[in-house]
Amino acid sequence: MSLYRRRILLGIAGGIAAYRSAELARLLVKQQAEVRCVMTRSAKEFITPLTLEALTGETVHDELFDLTTEREMGHIRLARWAELIVVAPATADVLARHAHGMADDLLTTILLASQVPVLMAPAMNQAMWSHPSTQANVALLRERGIQIVGPDCGELACGEQGSGRMCSLETLLAAMRLCLGGGRLRGERWVINAGPTWEAWDRVRVLTNRASGRLGFHLAEAAAAEGAETILVAGPGVPRSSLPMRRVDVESALEMHRACLDAAEGADVFVATAAVSDYRFAERIEGKHKRAGRQTVRVELVVNPDIVADVARLPRRPDRVIAFAAECREHVHSARQKMLEKGVDAIVANDAERMGSEEAGGWWIDERGVVELSATSKVHFAEQLLERIACMEDEA
Ligand SMILES: Cc1cc2nc3c(=O)[nH]c(=O)nc-3n(C[C@H](O)[C@H](O)[C@H](O)COP(=O)(O)O)c2cc1C
Repeated sequence: MSLYRRRILLGIAGGIAAYRSAELARLLVKQQAEVRCVMTRSAKEFITPLTLEALTGETVHDELFDLTTEREMGHIRLARWAELIVVAPATADVLARHAHGMADDLLTTILLASQVPVLMAPAMNQAMWSHPSTQANVALLRERGIQIVGPDCGELACGEQGSGRMCSLETLLAAMRLCLGGGRLRGERWVINAGPTWEAWDRVRVLTNRASGRLGFHLAEAAAAEGAETILVAGPGVPRSSLPMRRVDVESALEMHRACLDAAEGADVFVATAAVSDYRFAERIEGKHKRAGRQTVRVELVVNPDIVADVARLPRRPDRVIAFAAECREHVHSARQKMLEKGVDAIVANDAERMGSEEAGGWWIDERGVVELSATSKVHFAEQLLERIACMEDEA
């Protein structure tokens, strides 16, 4: 769903992540949304209104008691103008003030005066985030229908590790689309597997590959943003999404096989983006293998089940089963062969050399022919794939 001409009020509060609101404003403008920014007084300590005015081409609003703005675009008019309010970053303070119905500055007054959906992306130090006051405020806001997106886990601006980092801008954009009624996949169940698998040799060593799981992750976010009931079967290292979806964490190919078959029975769509290990160790060593002077070690590998082929053979198989094939040469020919062998409805061939990179590209192959998909960011590639998969229904 496009954000073209959607009226989005971007609220910016005073936290370190305020600098990311400039990039968010830029992305929204790029997608041709209409953006108006409202800053708290503290936000102006972190980023200047001038930056946001230059990016959006619109006056930035920051004062409740301002005669000029009240005449031109006062708080009530701003509240009525917006179709969606996004507060990013949302400080602990703004969460608290809005949870308790305060209206002591322009942003919180607009939040009270508005009746449109509100999205808040908290960002703060992990102790502030886990504080019982913040958690109680967030629970209260959620109860009232405000969508809290994030925060993510990771390294924070204060140098600590933990939960409190503002979610990714892609996640925020997907959440906005969902809020604005992107719902054409409502009623459908999409199951997507993503990431590498780990085949344990002993307690500490694993056989794996370079897949990051980001393409499957972005596809799952795009499906969730369009209202699909989404199940992401995630191998190790796949990023976590703040969008509404079910996630099943797995490690080995056998675990992924079981989880996918359970989730895909009766689903509408199954997309196999995961780079599942073809082989596992015939025997798993207890504890840690000791080198003990050996120059060579022989290991025996046994073949793993073919997940996408087994999903395509389920008694109540999904209507659309899409496989992926990472090939080094003769991409289209080899992938088409695989499509027939596996009994899937379409296959995406891509270059194995590109595994783990920031970009994705390849070929979409189905019974009607081949379409080349040029290399682009994984977010954009996932959106293109979603379009193709969603349209397969109409073409059938
Ligand atoms: C350097 C600095 C960084 C800060 N970063 C954050 C932050 O990331 N998140 C947060 O909730 N508060 C942060 N604060 C505290 C807020 O700025 C403070 O609570 C302020 O009152 C928030 O005002 P506002 O919610 O009206 O924007 C920071 C303060 C300072 C001095």
